[in-house]
Parts: sequence; C-alpha cells; structure tokens
Amino acid sequence: MTHPRIGLIGLGTMGRALALNIAENAEPLAVYNRTTSKTDDFIAHTRANEPALADRLTPADSLEGFVQSLATPRAIILMVDAGAPVDKVIAALRPLLNDDDLIIDAGNANFHDTNRRAQEAEAAGVPFIGMGVSGGEEGARHGPSIMGGGPRDHWDRVANVLESIAAKYGDTPCATWMGTGGAGHFVKAVHNGIEYADMQMIAETYGIFRDGMGRDAARIGATFAKWNEGPLQSYLVEISGKVATATDPETGKPMLDIILDKAGQKGTGRWTVIEAQHLGAPIPVIEAAVCARNTSARLQQRQRGQDSFGAAPLLLPEGTLSDDTLEGAMIAGKIMCYAQGFDLLHAASAHYDWGLPMPEVARVWREGCIIRSSMLNDMASALESAPDDNLIFAPFFHDLVEQHMPALRTTVATALSHGLAVPALSAAVTWFDMMRTARSTANMIQGQRDFFGAHGFERTDRDGKDYHGPWAMGG
Ligand code: 6PG
Repeated sequence: MTHPRIGLIGLGTMGRALALNIAENAEPLAVYNRTTSKTDDFIAHTRANEPALADRLTPADSLEGFVQSLATPRAIILMVDAGAPVDKVIAALRPLLNDDDLIIDAGNANFHDTNRRAQEAEAAGVPFIGMGVSGGEEGARHGPSIMGGGPRDHWDRVANVLESIAAKYGDTPCATWMGTGGAGHFVKAVHNGIEYADMQMIAETYGIFRDGMGRDAARIGATFAKWNEGPLQSYLVEISGKVATATDPETGKPMLDIILDKAGQKGTGRWTVIEAQHLGAPIPVIEAAVCARNTSARLQQRQRGQDSFGAAPLLLPEGTLSDDTLEGAMIAGKIMCYAQGFDLLHAASAHYDWGLPMPEVARVWREGCIIRSSMLNDMASALESAPDDNLIFAPFFHDLVEQHMPALRTTVATALSHGLAVPALSAAVTWFDMMRTARSTANMIQGQRDFFGAHGFERTDRDGKDYHGPWAMGG
C-alpha cells in the first residue's frame, strides 16, 4: 500500500470538511484526532456516505502511528483550536518528525503566535507555515479561500495541493502566499474584521427596516435577496436574506424573531482592532462592529437602559428612507470598510516588511471566503493600478463614493435623529468626513497637549517641530 504524503490532525467540523476536500480534490491523506472515537466516527460516517472518499483516508489511533503512516517528506496540517493546543500538538509532533517534514497550522491563529512559531521553527531548522482558511464548513469541504504565510519555499511544496482544494474564481484558485511569518494569519484576521463590519452594516440596515419601518423579517429578507442581484452581491447579503426569510420549525415564527440578540465572537475581529491600534491604522467601521458585538452582549444593561430612557420612539414617517437609499448607504459603507481594511494591511505590510500583495489579497477573497463579493474583483483591479493608495481614491470607487455617499449620510442622519443605533454606518460617514477635510480639528488637540504637557507642535507657517504656545511662557 502507498503511504499518503499529507496528514491532518484535528477532526472537528472544519478538520473533517478539509480532510474530505483534500481526499476528493487533491490526494489520499492520513487523519488523526486525540480522541480516537472522533476518528472512528468520522471514518464510519464517511464510509456510509462517501465510500470512495473513505478509501482515500488512512486513520490512525496514535500520533506515532499517524506519523509512521505518512510517506516522507511529510506535510501535516493542524486543524486544532487556536492557542495553546497548537503549541501542544507541535511539541508532541516534532520529536517524531524528520527535519524536512512540514507542519501547517490551518487554524484561526493569532498572527503573533504564528510569528513566534515561525521563528522557533526557523531556529530549529524545521519547516512551518501558518495559513488562514476561510469559508466556514461549506468552504472547507468544497473550496475555501486560503491565505498562506511563512517561507515561500515551504508554501511552494504544498501549493499544488492547496490550489486543488481552494475555491476557484473562474480558473484562478483562491490560495495565495501572502508573505513570511504570520502574514497569512494576519490577512485572515483582517478578513474577519471586515467580516464583522460587513455583518454589522447588514444588521444595522435590518434594524432600520424592522424598527424604523416596521417591516417583517420575510419582507426584509426579500429585499436583501434583491440587493444580492446588484452591486451588493455577496455571500453575506445572500445568507442574510436566507436568515431573514427562514421560519422556526418549532414555533412557526420567523427564525430571526426567535434568535437572542446577543452576538458571539471568538476574537479574530478584536485582534484586528488591537493590531490596528498598535499600527496607528484607523479602522473605525471595524472597531464599531466589534464594539457593537460587545454591546450586544450587555443584554441586561440594555434592557435597563430601555426601561429607564425608553426605546427609539416612533416609526419613521412613511417614505423617509427608500429601499434604494438604504442600498446606496450599504454600498458606500462597504467601500469605507474595505478601504480601512486594506489600509490596515498596508500599514502592517510596511511595519512587518511583508510586502503584502494587495491585489492578490483582494483576489484571494473573491471566492470561497465569508466576505466574497462581486465588489472584490473591482477592488483587485483598483489595487493592481495603485496598490499603495487608499481605495476611495481609485477612480472606480471614487465615483461610487460620490454617487452613494448622500444615501449613506441621509440614512445615518435619519437613523440617529430617530434613535436607531447605526454604529458602523455612522463610523463610515465620520471617517469619510475626516478623510475629506484637509484642515481638521487636531490643531486644538495639539494646543491642548502643549498647554498641559509642553508637548510641542508644528506650525502651519514655518518648518520645524517643537513650537510652543504663549501659555508655555506663562502667557
Ligand atoms: C471564516 C470565518 C471563520 C469563523 C469565524 C467566526 O472566514 O470562515 O471567519 O473563521 O466563522 O471564526 O468568528 P466569530 O466567532 O468571531 O464571529
């Protein structure tokens, strides 16, 4: 019997899906899970449902047996929980491996961990890459978007396998090497930050329809489905339409009316915001989205707030906001959010010396991942022409912004004046207004800083840095 070259450790939902994808679209592989019953269950399930694929899986009930079942040089994909479990598996694996065996962390690792693991691997002279995988269970099974990081030659060893299992945009596989160290996991984190913001803006629009216009979930779902045929075409708008139109089988009520309004999060959006702050990159739409999830978790406080201050008072007068206006608002908000995400990637690329391929980032997100949308192809073209420029200055997006900014402004102004919370959409307007104001109000901040701490400022009329106001001289 021939030994597989690829192994996968971690048979949770994503690991199982990725294993079947590899078996179907690339090559046979060995699989292992710390709890053997999970492996047995996976094999039995696959044998019952996809027997041809079961024949391409070599299960192992010990880590040693798993390693021995692989042909050398090995490539071992880890699909275990991010954090300490990854370090544990690596520590257990390394003594069993040869120096040219490659470990690939395909979980949602924090890129700082990936940087550290990459350094440790380099110091030990053993190959390691960290790669972000997006697309949820369906993507993992039938074609995810893959963002790789680590030494290029290690990526190249497995690139053909990864390209075979990745989603395809036309004929182009959505699997790309982003840079050294934690570059791939950083790009994945920013993907997730954008994911949070995209989701939040959809949720805010849903809120305007529901609380400002009194529309039921099914009608809102139908509107999202219609928007999915226009410039907003995207996986998240598509599934939002499906979520809104679904009915709870138990009660017969709209599913959305049964779901508790308390959003979960595993931390990748938060990491994006933390890194943006470290890098001094303004990403207020993404920050607002993370903050909104945090606020959503304060259920009791929000209830108390409503009891003491009252909820948003009235429905909007008929005809105040049209569906077209809300669609335009979403288009403008989306552009702001992506412009900020790419700006963060740009800042990180310079800081970590990654040389991130900006148009490739947009390309790798066109299919397979959660934020896939038709607009990403236009973003790729814009970034191809001007990879270092903010997206709002690319002619295509500049025109779209000019066209749809009034809709975003009207939507936000109307929502705010009626007490409807639109944190991400309003962050988009405010960021845009700052971005098109050559003379901002930070002169006041500098004056204040100098007043209380003699921090010094630059003058508009002279060169040099360390000027002080008259207050510094006791004036
Ligand atoms: C993806 C998703 C995936 C997962 C998130 C959910 O790209 O496939 O981003 O990674 O759905 O981890 O994140 P939260 O639990 O933080 O919402």
